Amino acid sequence: MTEPGLIEAIRERVDIVELIREYVPSLKKAGRTYKARCPFHNEKTPSFTVNQDKGLFYCFGCQSGGDVFAFLMKIENLPFNEAAERLAKRAGLEWRPDNRALGPEQKERIDIKKALEFAAGYYSKALETPAGARARDYIVKRGLSAETVSKFMLGFSPAGGTGLVSAAAKAGYSPAILRKAGLVSETQQGARDYFRGRLMFPIIDHRGDIVAFGGRILDEGQPKYLNSPETAVFVKSRILYGLNRAAQAIRKTSRAVLLEGYMDVIACHQAGVENTIAPLGTSFGEGHSALLKRYAAEIVVLFDGDEAGIRAALRAGKILASSGLYSKIALLPGGVDPDDYVKENGAQALENLIGAAVDVASFHTGLVLKEMKMPLSAQDKAKAADILAETVAIVPDEIVRAEWIRETSERLGVTETAFANRVREQARSGGFQAEAKPAEAPAAEKIPEPPAEERDIVRYLLRYPQYIRLADNLEESEFSSAHAWKLLACLKLLLDEGAAVSSLASELAQRQPELAQLVYGLSVLEIPQVFDAAREITACAEMIKKARIQRRYREITGRLVQLRKAGQDAPAELLKEQFKLGVTLKSSKGIKE
Ligand code: GTP
Ligand code: MN
Repeated sequence: MTEPGLIEAIRERVDIVELIREYVPSLKKAGRTYKARCPFHNEKTPSFTVNQDKGLFYCFGCQSGGDVFAFLMKIENLPFNEAAERLAKRAGLEWRPDNRALGPEQKERIDIKKALEFAAGYYSKALETPAGARARDYIVKRGLSAETVSKFMLGFSPAGGTGLVSAAAKAGYSPAILRKAGLVSETQQGARDYFRGRLMFPIIDHRGDIVAFGGRILDEGQPKYLNSPETAVFVKSRILYGLNRAAQAIRKTSRAVLLEGYMDVIACHQAGVENTIAPLGTSFGEGHSALLKRYAAEIVVLFDGDEAGIRAALRAGKILASSGLYSKIALLPGGVDPDDYVKENGAQALENLIGAAVDVASFHTGLVLKEMKMPLSAQDKAKAADILAETVAIVPDEIVRAEWIRETSERLGVTETAFANRVREQARSGGFQAEAKPAEAPAAEKIPEPPAEERDIVRYLLRYPQYIRLADNLEESEFSSAHAWKLLACLKLLLDEGAAVSSLASELAQRQPELAQLVYGLSVLEIPQVFDAAREITACAEMIKKARIQRRYREITGRLVQLRKAGQDAPAELLKEQFKLGVTLKSSKGIKE
């Protein structure tokens, strides 16, 4: 598919620490490796490790690991080709993907995206035509600048109903692809434009690809907004409007502000509040939370100040908190949305509002207390405690939870212990669905850890392959871990084939994909700075042999005991073997009896 040399060159040129830091700013040097809390699962203590020299990462919690390619694919949810293309760009190399090597699904995704891009161009041009006058008026009425229109690539879908279909056909797009892109719908009169007479908002994913459209009606009418149907490239639950433009500001401020609508996002960006994003008409969910987690640790939910907005904000805030994000809620005056607010009061007022956001527990406490008569009766307190315990219980971080327990119990006027008990009960019964997830690593099938000497010989040889011959006299039967043996055997093979030393771990993981986690796990472990590799490797090989003898010795002893219990004679060969093994064991040091 591509020259292996290119992949190798990318691996050498892209600094894995720099790459990962863009997603995990907290990555810190710890000894000779780097550590942080894992971006792929919730955890309290850092078990995500990056080894800069080897270009590898590994999480001891969830056992995900790999090289720069694996990291980018996983964190951005990219197929290999796209990750490679981006890394190549980063490395200043040219990536020439061979389309023949792409799977049919990947090819189709590429075609769909091309069709969407074509449509965006078409809508954008249509905005300049006489038919687009109404849309241009509407843009002016909504106070959008020309710069905003161009930044967000706004456009207009003519009302005729076949404008896009015929333009796309002329440009060579097949009806099937247009349908799969969600741009046309089949009617009895044939293929018709899906969007007609609407102000068009391309929906761009965090990679910068157009994946769908939203269309707003220009006057009153239903539906107010129409979104593309879900397609191979458009999964609503994983896309946040504006994220491609907001990513930089979010990383810079370490904070994302979640709004309700497209127009809110656009208005805020235009006013200079650029860390703003919104879900796409669908309600906010865990897919969004997971996406946001790659960009910021703190999310402020800023929804409309009406009844529905408050409910939705609390819901979103809880989902965010349950996924380990620090979520806060800011409230707008009733009936106003961020778009109205920023236009009337300016960016600074909006920033102040965002800055005054309170955490989810505190927000919920305020809501609950507002509906109760003061002073609270004992019964009211119990009722409020029940409701709020559910909210407090969702946060996985113990310290944050303890803080929330303290503050909430104080405001309710109940003892901290009593409230903490309620929270514990809630956590156990799993009131909030997203809360049941443990903070620890997901229960992925873990590969059993080989004994230290078997693990270490592979680990050392990955780093010092020049000593591979020291492992020549080891045999499969001497290994207690079939996995460790498999890796050693494969490593020998790779070296015989002349694999490059710098990519041994990656190659090994590729050849033994089911053992990849093990390979990455052991290749990020530190090796002491002063290290006599030849001696350590020899010691491992000896230990492996000795351990094997010891296992056999124990096995025979066990068998002999059984025979004696059953009143049977011990076979002479067994006794002889036991004796011989015993002598060998005694003559060798360093074996625990
Ligand atoms: P404007 O009325 O243009 O200011 O939009 P808004 O963003 O203030 O809209 P609103 O608060 O009514 O809705 C927020 C978001 O919900 C919108 O951006 C859409 O994503 C979504 N939405 C609103 N109305 C509809 C609808 O009729 N259909 C669909 N699918 N989504 C809608
Ligand atoms: Mn609005």
